[in-house]
Amino acid sequence: MTIAITRDISPRFNECELTHIDRSPIDLEVACAQHRGYIEALKELGCDILELPAEPNLPDSVFVEDTAVILPEVALLTRPGADSRKPEVDSIAQALAPYRKLVRVTAPANVDGGDVLVLGKEIFVGMSTRSNQAAVNQMNEHLGKYGYRVIGVEMHDCLHLKTAVTRVDENNLLINRKWVNTEHFEGYNLIDVDPDEPFAANCLPVNGKIIFPASFPKTYTILESKGFKLRVVQVDELAKAEGAVTCCSLILA
Ligand code: GLY
Repeated sequence: MTIAITRDISPRFNECELTHIDRSPIDLEVACAQHRGYIEALKELGCDILELPAEPNLPDSVFVEDTAVILPEVALLTRPGADSRKPEVDSIAQALAPYRKLVRVTAPANVDGGDVLVLGKEIFVGMSTRSNQAAVNQMNEHLGKYGYRVIGVEMHDCLHLKTAVTRVDENNLLINRKWVNTEHFEGYNLIDVDPDEPFAANCLPVNGKIIFPASFPKTYTILESKGFKLRVVQVDELAKAEGAVTCCSLILA
């Protein structure tokens, strides 16, 4: 059984943090409808949804991915890099407690889940404006005992590592090489986003299909031509808050 944890959108969504895009007004009704559509896609792909209520005073809290890293053996609670986002973690800890042993990074470590790319027993952490070497060190201490190796990755010009590269399946990564060095990913087949769609590298594989934004038709065609089965979702209103498809759920397989 696959469980997906999601959280409803805060009424203060328009006050979200932004790093690499300009602010434009978010239509809350449209954003909520798109979020519902995303949840429907997760259900269609076999997920049971654990839907948490909105956190009224935490504008970015719909982006639950940033609060934890879920592994088969353990869940690591993060310490998000933006101060406004640090309080998002406690309620996620409560939600995760029945499913996993919990460990937690502490100050001076900062890490957003969006910076954490798990590829087997290697865990890559984007050295973004949100995540730091102290987090890499603490993650190695917590997770090394389970056989994981945590590695910092240089990146630039985008919010998170998973803005620049995500896992499509065990052999394939979807990547925008302009934002991340490929040297760590040499063992993988790298699928480049279409140059006209720099934000298209964020996809979410769930039970054999790939959840993918409708806004990137050229990269959709590239993935489809390689035989991947995609489930398209409309998330452009959520993207105005610098969120993408991995950001809106925590998946417990
Ligand atoms: N608005 C998403 C983030 O900055 O974390």
